[in-house]
Parts: sequence; structure tokens; C-alpha cells
Amino acid sequence: MKILFVASEVSPFSKTGGLGDVAGALPAAFAALGHEVKVISPRYRSVQDDRLTSTGQQIELRFPFGTERGPILSLRQSPNLELLFLENEHYYGRAGIYGDAWGEFGDNHRRFAYLSMGALQATQRLGFIPDIIHVNDWQTGLVPVALRRGFQGTGLSRARTVLTIHNLAYQGQFGKHVMDELGLPWDLFTAEMGLEFYDAVNFLKGAIQFSDALTTVSPTYAREIQEPEGGASLDGLLRARRGVLTGIVNGVDVQEWNPETDPHLPARYGAQDLTGKAACRRELLERFGLRPDTEAPVFGIVSRLAWQKGMDLLLETMPLALQSDIRFVAVGSGEGRYEDWLRALQHQFPEQVGTFIGFDQGLSHLVEAGADFFIMPSRYEPCGLNQMYSLRYGTVPIVRATGGLVDTVEGSMDGDGILFEAFHPSALLAALRRAQALYAEPERLLAFRKRGMGRDFSWDASARKYERVFTSLVTR
Ligand code: ADP
Ligand code: GLC
Repeated sequence: MKILFVASEVSPFSKTGGLGDVAGALPAAFAALGHEVKVISPRYRSVQDDRLTSTGQQIELRFPFGTERGPILSLRQSPNLELLFLENEHYYGRAGIYGDAWGEFGDNHRRFAYLSMGALQATQRLGFIPDIIHVNDWQTGLVPVALRRGFQGTGLSRARTVLTIHNLAYQGQFGKHVMDELGLPWDLFTAEMGLEFYDAVNFLKGAIQFSDALTTVSPTYAREIQEPEGGASLDGLLRARRGVLTGIVNGVDVQEWNPETDPHLPARYGAQDLTGKAACRRELLERFGLRPDTEAPVFGIVSRLAWQKGMDLLLETMPLALQSDIRFVAVGSGEGRYEDWLRALQHQFPEQVGTFIGFDQGLSHLVEAGADFFIMPSRYEPCGLNQMYSLRYGTVPIVRATGGLVDTVEGSMDGDGILFEAFHPSALLAALRRAQALYAEPERLLAFRKRGMGRDFSWDASARKYERVFTSLVTR
């Protein structure tokens, strides 16, 4: 099959969270299955690579406010995998992917309309006529809409579209003036079969309605989003489309996240010999100016600091947990209130708490390797990748039983992680106490670590599930 994969971030070139990780790895897994794959993404300022070449082609899109142009750059990764970057200095040549210190960029509807329409144009200009166009989240939501509406009769009308929902809470909602601004036909502004959502425009809703198949990133989240509580006001629509909705758990880029080869670590280790993990732990504690002994466990987090991630729950619970002899290291960035709260926690417990406010990929690897336990107290979690990285690094994850965390962490007595149910400090505190008890029993702890390190999270199995979805569409 010919597969066009469109995403607003692609690791290692651009990344704000798990979407970037997925877009950096899943297309390669499709290519490994023998498909011909092209990935289209914006050329943000962070996308710098000597191997980038010109395709000699450029995008030219007419919008009511003017014509937008920009070159299409290429980076071939293997004979059947090519990354294409849409360059547009005005839209993507700034610091930040979706926003900056002042908040979300005000022209995101234009920036991602350019990506969506541009992807459809680029693939035609390059003579790549896909069987499947795989789009991701609201930023690429106009692809299925435009394909149905604007590209009928062209070579692309054969293409089937698949939308993967990585996070239903981010929908790309804009005032209805963007209909005229982007030149979208007003008959699409309906609630039944269109973009309208409480008198605003909703890109994700359009994609949910117009895509041929829908996937989301875990089976549990696929069920949760069909309920009012997890459905972010789109549960009714998702129930109506449940026949084409599949939950497929994400994989892990096992090359990037491998403690045996990880270049970000001071020492490397594997399940057979964990000695190197102790060196990572020392380095981590040293970096944060914390005492490096092994008496008490080290808890870590690496997270977007957002409501979704349960940062309020964590920050309410930590002062209680820190009454006993534990250490806590946090790497995160996001909402200012949580950043301040973390800083305050460190101020209150300077001997026990280390924080880094910012985005640092190397440090994220060091936390995964150096901590004893990794905490993910998410309110909801479509899939979550860090718990799987933790398992691979022999760091026992402590997760709330929601979404993909349920589907990836084994919480039984002889499992590989610790699960808790209630979104309440007492439940998280009890889970942290269980972790301390486990830490006090080195043999049982080692068994937990080894079981986690032995799990297979490679992308291959997930890619095959996507392949089945694609095949069902093209042979229909
Ligand atoms: P989400 O996509 O909802 O943020 P995931 O668990 O799927 O959650 O993926 C998060 C990804 O972003 C992981 O690769 C994680 O290591 C990375 N990440 C999050 N915050 C930071 C940070 N402050 N510094 C470095 N990496 C981070
Ligand atoms: C989103 C979700 C996260 C998921 C990631 C990749 O950012 O919040 O749970 O792992 O997408 O699919």
C-alpha cells in the first residue's frame, strides 16, 4: 500500500509530547512491513538537518486572504520511507510549535489549514497517489474534510482516510469567522455532517465525521471517549461512529528508548545486569543536588504540566509523601500554576526534591533510567508513553488506572507496576507507600523490574493492527 502520514510534529525534528514520538516511529514500522510511506509535517525552526534536500516542488494554496506558497523539502530515511517538510517562513519559522510564552498562536487555524491542504497538494505534485491518508489529531483534521469536498475527481479521490485521535480534549476550535477566512464552504457549517460545534468551528469534529476509519491510542480510551465523562462533548458522535473506531496501543521506539545503547546515560544496562542503573541513579541525584545514597527510593516524573496529567493531585499529595524518607525529581513544563507549585515544593523540601522546569530530552532519558519509580497520576491518559519507557528502563511505574495506562501496566502482585484507582490524594499516597514497601524488599523489586524490562513494546504489533484497518478500507 501507499501510505501518506500527516502529523503536526515528528520526533526527533519536532516534539511537544507523545504525538511526536508516534509520528517519528509508526511510519517506519509501516515501511518495515513493506509499505511505501511518506510523512508530511511542517518545517518548524527546530527542523534542521544537513540531509534535507529540495524536491524542486512547492505548495501554492489560494485562500481568501491571499496566496500562500512554500517549498517542499525531503529527507529520505530508507528506500520506502520519505519525510517531507512543508517550509513556510511566515507560519513555521518561529520559536514554538503551537504557541509561545504568550499562549497559543493566534493564527493556528491558518497554520494547520496550510499543513492539511498543503499535504494533499504536495502528494499530488510529487506524483505520490496514496491508498491511505493517515491523519493525526485536530491539526490535520481538515485533510479528510478537504479530500471529500475539494479533491473529488482528482487522483486522490481513491484515497481512504484514517484519523488517529491522540487526545480528544484538543479539538481545534475557532470562531466561525474562520469559515470565511479559510474559504470553507458554509454548507459544512452544520452540526449533523460538518464542522459546526456549539456555533464554533471544530476541526477534530470534521475529521471524525469525514474520515473513513477512526482509531485511538488504546482500547480502554476507545471505550472511555464514547462516554459523557471522557467524551469531551463528542461522545455522541463517537458512539454513532463506533463501528469504524478501533483502539490500538502505541509502541515504543525501541532504538531511541533502549537502556543498553542509550547515549544520554552515563552508563548502560540491561535486564541481565542492572549495575549501570545504579550509576544513572547517582548521576540523576547529583544533577539535582540530592543525596545519592540508596536508603530511600527515588520517585520521578517527566511530564507536560497540564490538568490532564493530574499535576494538582500529585502536588497535593507530595507534601504528605515527603514526610517519610523519599526523594522526588520532576522534569516538566507547561502551565505556569503547576510550574510555580513545583518550585514551591522544592523550596519547602530542598533536601528531598529536585525540579527542572523546561523541555530536555536528554534529561528525560536520565530520569527514566535513574529513578526507582515513575509516577503518572493522570486524570485521563489516551495511551501514555512514559510508563512504557519506564518499564523498559527497569523503573517501576505508578499509574492511575485510566486509558492506556490500564492497557500497558500490569498491576498484580507479580506484575510490573503499581496501579491506583481513585483520583484522590489518599489513593496516590497509598500507591506511593506500596512502592516504598516494594523498595524495602530488594528481591521482589528486582523481579518487578525484570518483568517490565522483558515486555515487548515494539511498534511491529501495533503497526500490524493499523495495517488491518487500512486493508479493510482499500479492499472494501
Ligand atoms: P503526552 O503526549 O500526553 O504528553 P506521552 O506520555 O504520550 O504524553 O508522551 C510524552 C512524551 O513527551 C514522552 O516522550 C516524554 O518523555 C516527553 N516529555 C514530556 N515532557 C517533557 C519534558 N519536560 N522534557 C522532555 N521530554 C518531555
Ligand atoms: C497524546 C496523549 C498520550 C499519548 C500520545 C501519543 O499526547 O495525551 O496519552 O500517548 O498522544 O499517542
